[in-house]
Amino acid sequence: MSGKTYQAPRGTSDLLPPDTERWARVEAAARDLFRLYGFREVRTPIFEARELFERGIGETTDIVEKQMYVFQDRGGDWLALRPEGTASVLRAFVEHRLDQTAPPPYRYFYVGPMFRHERPQRGRYRQFHQIGVEALGESAPEVDAEVIALGWEFLRHVGARDVQVELNSIGCSACRPAYQAALRAYWQTHADELCPDCRRRMDRNPLRVLDCKNEGCQAVLRGAPVIDAYWCDACRTHFEAVQTALSALDVPYVRNARLVRGLDYYMRTAFEMTAAGLGAQNAVLGGGRYDGLLRALGGPDWPGVGFAIGMERLMAVLPEAAHSVPGLAVMFLPLTEAARGVALQGVQTVRRLGVPAWARMDVGSVKSGLRSAHRAGVRFAVILGDDELRAGRWTVRDMQASLQQTLSPEEAVEVIRRALSLDTPRT
Ligand code: HAM
Repeated sequence: MSGKTYQAPRGTSDLLPPDTERWARVEAAARDLFRLYGFREVRTPIFEARELFERGIGETTDIVEKQMYVFQDRGGDWLALRPEGTASVLRAFVEHRLDQTAPPPYRYFYVGPMFRHERPQRGRYRQFHQIGVEALGESAPEVDAEVIALGWEFLRHVGARDVQVELNSIGCSACRPAYQAALRAYWQTHADELCPDCRRRMDRNPLRVLDCKNEGCQAVLRGAPVIDAYWCDACRTHFEAVQTALSALDVPYVRNARLVRGLDYYMRTAFEMTAAGLGAQNAVLGGGRYDGLLRALGGPDWPGVGFAIGMERLMAVLPEAAHSVPGLAVMFLPLTEAARGVALQGVQTVRRLGVPAWARMDVGSVKSGLRSAHRAGVRFAVILGDDELRAGRWTVRDMQASLQQTLSPEEAVEVIRRALSLDTPRT
């Protein structure tokens, strides 16, 4: 039967072995490290009320205006596939009244797919995966620094090279309006030098213009007013303390006065990280402080700070060697149907030693069996033909040494066990 073939939807991809294993290792490293900082895992639904993101992320952001996967379900409810994790985690925090029912610290992490209808390109997908952290109820600037340090430590720990931390403060609701007004006025006077995207944004979201990647806009952007002159005392003091704390933690950073974020909930500290191997425009991590968001989502007036890492981007920059996973080590090759039962038991015995093993149950010749053992890269092939069955023995072929011996199952298991534990590199 020949049928129509299908592809994964545009902007999505299948994650296949060995990449699944590389990903799992990096995720496990995140879980281990985040735990040391007091972060615990939460899992929220893949879709939420559309309104949660409109309120949380901001009506005039690209994400909400152009990129959300919005749909009405069969019951008539308006839902959206989550484009990010922060709004969901805060929604769960409020819904379950964790401020009243759970002990401190209120530190959460999440791992999972996010969805944005973007134009797919390298490092930009419609389904992508984030590992993120959110620290709620902690307002001290040292916490911003600690969260940044965690991201930085993690990226380096899993093998990212040349991790660059870019840091800014985008002020707060007290001081940002004056800065926005100054930016608006400046954009107005240069409107004819700006791209259509910038012209469209300059009134509604003047800060976002700073983030334009269009070549033609760069000269105008370079001359734009910087926020430093507009910070209120509280924002200035906070930003200085973040920088002092980063220095105390030995986290190198560069100040980028033009760094703004694509989500509206941020205030004060905003940061992104890049690594060797990504285009300069592609941050592998982005985050910041978002005091006020929890209250806007119906929760207590608690501050928050966090970040998210893009897994696809991270995995693209990690050296291969940093995450190879040992594969199948033993393959059983029953040569007759009668040998399949012995193979089934044998393979189970080997697995109990903790050795990955598989029995190729579609009976074939020794030659084809050894060919597939070779392709699978196993260390041992166990051949089970009529002779072996009659004698109650296994023929064990060491694929590396090209040596073959016929042994009792006990002896065979011992040979495999010894060879593999000698082979296993001790780390
Ligand atoms: P974000 O900057 O929108 O922030 O996303 C964080 C990271 O997710 C980016 O730096 C990037 O690595 C990855 N990412 C975003 N969009 C895509 C895409 N279309 N394809 C591939 N990777 C992508 C947030 O989402 C905030 N919720 C982060 C945060 C948490 N802030 C505070 N807490």
